[in-house]
Amino acid sequence: MSLWGGRFSEPSDEDLRLLNDSIRFDQALYAEDIEGSMVYARALAEAGVISAGEAETIVEGLRQVMQEFDSDRFELAAGDEDIHTAVERRLIEIVGDVGGKLHTGRSRNDQVATDFRLWTMRAADRLHEALRMLQAAIVLVAEGHSETVMPGYTHMQPAQPITAAHWLMSFFWMLERDLDRLRASRARMADCPLGSGALAGNPFAIDRQEIGAELGFERASENSLDAVSDRDFVADMLYMISLCATHLSRLAEDILIYSNPSFGFITLDDRYSTGSSLMPQKRNADPMELMRGKTGRLIGNLAGFLTTLKGLPSGYNKDLQEDKEALFDALETMHQLLPVVTATINSLQINSEAMASALTDDLLATDLADYLVRKGVSFRQSHHIVGEVVRAAAERDQTLSQLPLSTLQRICPHFAGDVSDVFDFSLSIQRRDSYGGAAPGAVRAQIRRAKARLDV
Ligand code: ARG
Repeated sequence: MSLWGGRFSEPSDEDLRLLNDSIRFDQALYAEDIEGSMVYARALAEAGVISAGEAETIVEGLRQVMQEFDSDRFELAAGDEDIHTAVERRLIEIVGDVGGKLHTGRSRNDQVATDFRLWTMRAADRLHEALRMLQAAIVLVAEGHSETVMPGYTHMQPAQPITAAHWLMSFFWMLERDLDRLRASRARMADCPLGSGALAGNPFAIDRQEIGAELGFERASENSLDAVSDRDFVADMLYMISLCATHLSRLAEDILIYSNPSFGFITLDDRYSTGSSLMPQKRNADPMELMRGKTGRLIGNLAGFLTTLKGLPSGYNKDLQEDKEALFDALETMHQLLPVVTATINSLQINSEAMASALTDDLLATDLADYLVRKGVSFRQSHHIVGEVVRAAAERDQTLSQLPLSTLQRICPHFAGDVSDVFDFSLSIQRRDSYGGAAPGAVRAQIRRAKARLDV
């Protein structure tokens, strides 16, 4: 039984049905669809459109439909175009004609907007939890490595020493902003569209504020025409997910580089490494490549859906049905990735010695310039002087610390015996104890602040 056959003398073409039907994927909304209908039935009774007894019969019937879905016993019938059709068809089978009163004043347009918002609010909560677990893993590993010195890079070239904790914690804060975006979009999506009808509103005296509150929304939407066609919340989520995945793709890239034997800074646990069918020695980091690769797919979901939205005229258009698969796929992909990324971090082996042996004197060139600044030389000058020192060392095939003091003094008379203190990586890091800096004390404070965020 279709919800709309009356004005046609011929049934739909079978190929059109296959194209048009969304039941294949929108079944996932069954709980939200049924909850929305229960609240709506009671609102119709309160408005005097149906009797209290009729509302109870409908709600009881819906409860049975819910149980059938919950226990995987719901049987789809031919003509179940989407979840809304399927639920109403089954309701009428169970309670009889009175079930036909449920849709009074309602349209699938306000219904699907309500269902999908509610579903997405709950999905946002699940995603929030999964991201918190990843943050907790980062903090756990970082806590043990606030003194583990490693080279820091800019332009992928050795720059200044940092610590493994500082490197890892940088991703904590990216995720913190992602979570902030997630909470903000969840707060924005808490407008309840139910009661907007097909586009113009509801002619029966239903209490939209109460309907919204009962379903767990914060407010009733302000404009019925906007409410039935607004899918900002889907785009918001797809963007938040895309940016979050982009951050994790960068983490994955770091892990791929640092686990390369030429670096050897980290080793992935056997459980999160993969091998080669041909080359017996291989330890590949496929999960990280999948994180990086699937980020492309997630960005694709965002770009694709924005393209769907951009040309739509006012009101509901069937194009909007494309919202669900894009977001379902994005969330499913994230929930495939996140447990693996979290476990990869949790089990990450940090090779402190390999990190230490990658520390080269040139990482201290800035410190050498700062040394001259402390002797009263302007930084512009000292930068130039140390550039000459670097060149002199390269010409002699020596490192900075191997250059004799006499050579340094020939370049700049301000160099003195205490210059040897500069060539200490730990001291270099300790000096960078500004708020948010790489000094062990500053990183420990950073971790304390991060943990306070995890507690809320
Ligand atoms: N399956 C549809 C969707 O997901 C439900 C709304 C259909 N509304 C309509 N007027 N055809 O968007």
